[in-house]
Amino acid sequence: MTDLAALFKISYGLYLIGAKKENKENACINNTLIQITSEPLRLLLAMNKGSYTHDLVKATGQLSVAVIDQRADMSFFNHFGTKSGRDIDKLEGFPVLFCSNGCPSVEGNICALFAGEVEQTIDVGSHSLFIIAVQEAAIKSDYEPITYAQYRNLKNTGSIEIIKTEKKEYKYICTVCHYEYDGDIPFEDLPDDYKCPICGVGKELFIKV
Ligand SMILES: Cc1cc2nc3c(=O)[nH]c(=O)nc-3n(C[C@H](O)[C@H](O)[C@H](O)COP(=O)(O)O)c2cc1C
Repeated sequence: MTDLAALFKISYGLYLIGAKKENKENACINNTLIQITSEPLRLLLAMNKGSYTHDLVKATGQLSVAVIDQRADMSFFNHFGTKSGRDIDKLEGFPVLFCSNGCPSVEGNICALFAGEVEQTIDVGSHSLFIIAVQEAAIKSDYEPITYAQYRNLKNTGSIEIIKTEKKEYKYICTVCHYEYDGDIPFEDLPDDYKCPICGVGKELFIKV
C-alpha cells in the first residue's frame, strides 16, 4: 500500500531561490533544501528541470537561497511559485537585493539569506540535485521561518499565527549537532581545545546566533 498522504508528514521549510544570467534575474519558491555538511558548509537543493530558475542555476553555477519567513502571504507564494520567469519579470516591483555572487533576492519576507556556488550536479530525471558550497550567510529578520505545514494552513485558511523571535542574548550553537552552549564561562573565554560535549567537534564549529 502506498498512502501518498504520508508525504505531507515530511517537514520542510520554504525558500526563495534566486539566480541571474547576463541581465536576466529570476527567483522561484522551493521546499526541497537541506544542509548536508558544515565544514565546508554545503546545502543540497532539488530543482525541477522545467523551471527557468533551474536553467539559470545550471548555466551559471551561482544562486541565492533565502529562507522565507512567516510574513509571506499567498500572493508572494503564488507569484514566485506558480509563475515563470520565462514569461514575466518576476522581480519587477519587489525591493531586490543582490548577494556578493550577483544573484538576486528580495527585501522583506525572508529571515536568512545564503549565496552559493554549485559544486556538483546530480541528474535524477525530472530534477537536478545541486550540491551548493555556501560563500555567504546572513540573518535578515527576527521573524521565524515558515514551515511547509504552515504554508498549507495559510493556503487553506488564509492565515497563520505570526511568530517573531524575542530579542535575546547571543547564544553559541554547534553547527554539527545543534547543541546550545549553556556553561557558566562565557563561550569566548573557553580554551581553544574546548569540544562539543555531544558530538566532540571543536570550538571553531560553533556559531553565534
Ligand atoms: C509551496 C511551493 C513549493 C515548491 N517547491 C518546489 C520544489 O521543491 N522544487 C521545484 O523545483 N519547484 C518547486 N515549486 C515550484 C516552482 O516554484 C515553480 O515551478 C515556479 O513557477 C518556477 O518558476 P521559474 O520558471 O521562474 O523558475 C514550489 C512551488 C510552491 C508554491
